[in-house]
Amino acid sequence: MYTDNLATKGIILAGGKGSRLYPITLSTSKQLLNIFDKPMIYYPLTTLMMAGIRNILIIVKENNIEAFKELLGNGNHLGINITYKVQPKPEGIAQAFLIGEEFINRDPVALILGDNFYYGKDLFNQLNQLGKEKEGGTVFAYRVSDPERYGVPEFDCNGKVLKIVEKPSKPKSNYAITGLYFYDSEVVDIVKTLKPSKRGELEVTDLNQIYLKKHKLNVLLMSRGMTWFDTGNFESLFNASSFVKAIQERQGLRIGSPEEVAWRKGWIDDNDIKKIGKSFANSYGDYLQSLI
Ligand code: G1P
Repeated sequence: MYTDNLATKGIILAGGKGSRLYPITLSTSKQLLNIFDKPMIYYPLTTLMMAGIRNILIIVKENNIEAFKELLGNGNHLGINITYKVQPKPEGIAQAFLIGEEFINRDPVALILGDNFYYGKDLFNQLNQLGKEKEGGTVFAYRVSDPERYGVPEFDCNGKVLKIVEKPSKPKSNYAITGLYFYDSEVVDIVKTLKPSKRGELEVTDLNQIYLKKHKLNVLLMSRGMTWFDTGNFESLFNASSFVKAIQERQGLRIGSPEEVAWRKGWIDDNDIKKIGKSFANSYGDYLQSLI
């Protein structure tokens, strides 16, 4: 679906200390914790896959790389290609483009934060509507009750974004810029011009601000029918888990299953998904086998 558009490559940023979740994340990665019945990283991974992205770089903390490899391997079983890189020190979201420079290789690229959870079809309809536009960046704004925790867009009276401010004490709107970003092939060069912010990070908001100033940033409003959680603290982790549990129980369909997405996309066949399902030998495995 989206493969031919802005980005065919995608990065999942799964580094960071996860300090808001200490002590749970003292010995593991936040993105390996569960959102209800699946590891957190399954959800952003399926978001990229649903956008048609099959070439994926996962950026991780050094001491957790083996655990991620054990979980997802090289992606072959999902009909995708996964490689890994270590983030030596968490120095901001935009650092992902420097770590991923070789992987990006001057192509357009998508970035998703490993703790961001998206649910709903609208997002993919919006992605499709972007057409074959190859220049600039695209980000998504979502209405939240606590914008001060996020990058916040300020709109003029025509709904045009004037600027984006990171964690403003007095937010100028009720919208947050979510953790899914699409950029053109300029992104690495632009990130190289960024200076660390007061909190010592290369801010993705500064990157977006540069695209915005050049009139090259598409800020798409995500509809209220979509669900977005950033699952980096106890409350939102719990809320996302409850959400997944409730919808799955009601519909009998699983949210965030990379095996299912791979199969629905035709990247793996009936035999492949059957084999994976059998290897789990539990209700998740039964579900995968029941799809055929
Ligand atoms: C980061 C970004 C922020 C964005 C948020 C989405 O915040 O800096 O602009 O709105 O992710 O999850 P952080 O996770 O660093 O608090």
